[in-house]
Amino acid sequence: MHVLGIDIGGSGIKAAPVDVTTGKLLADRQKIETPRPALPDPVADVVKQLTTAFSWSGPIGITFPGVVTDGVTRTAANLDPAWIGLDAAALFGKATRNPVRVMNDADAAGVAEMRFGAGAGEQGTVLMLTFGTGIGSALFIKGILVPNTEFGHIEIRGQDAEKRASERAKELHDLSWGKWAGRVDEYLHHIEALLSPRLIIVGGGISKQSDKWVPRLTGIRARIVPAALLNDAGIVGAAMATVSESAPDTSGASGTGH
Ligand code: BGC
Repeated sequence: MHVLGIDIGGSGIKAAPVDVTTGKLLADRQKIETPRPALPDPVADVVKQLTTAFSWSGPIGITFPGVVTDGVTRTAANLDPAWIGLDAAALFGKATRNPVRVMNDADAAGVAEMRFGAGAGEQGTVLMLTFGTGIGSALFIKGILVPNTEFGHIEIRGQDAEKRASERAKELHDLSWGKWAGRVDEYLHHIEALLSPRLIIVGGGISKQSDKWVPRLTGIRARIVPAALLNDAGIVGAAMATVSESAPDTSGASGTGH
């Protein structure tokens, strides 16, 4: 089964067709910069361009960097507020003329890591955290996703955690690896106190350089491992969730209004 996976991020929108039974990309991924401001129509236009670039006709899985319930985007901490309460599945369906499923970006990355990557076979509580423009989270128990957790937004020192410890915070404040790892460490201690995960998978672009910061995380009981699928996890997970019978149930209460 082949599905087009599209990963909408704060800086780029990436796509590739995926074989969902193996988790492998069937062609090189293509990337287009996220329009600024990242309003729904220009973003939908990029999604359409990427669909056309692969001459795609068939199911499409799309990630979004915010809470998504029943195809409706509920929060947009790092995109334009125009997304809040929008039927994104309907918008992308109309733009691409294909059946689409929309889910949270970290949830998608986590689903892919649990099946094909660093979390494969792990039965205990697993937390995937993505460090990028924000901090995304995906929580699993016995391999089952609890959708739309937002652990990037816990408060630390009176601030939204992702404002202190995301990859963007590192760039913005020009933090050394040591300084930034200190902030991540403090963040993980809070997370561990709340959830006691057995395994923490760290993803996002910065996980490529995990040797620079993961060894500096001290005193966390959970095993901490870098994501195995790196940049492709979102694309693969979005595609998998679109066809899987165990696709995360993204229905539920409306979002938290970040
Ligand atoms: C959003 C999450 C998202 C994360 C990573 C956060 O600001 O609230 O929904 O998963 O950024 O993009």
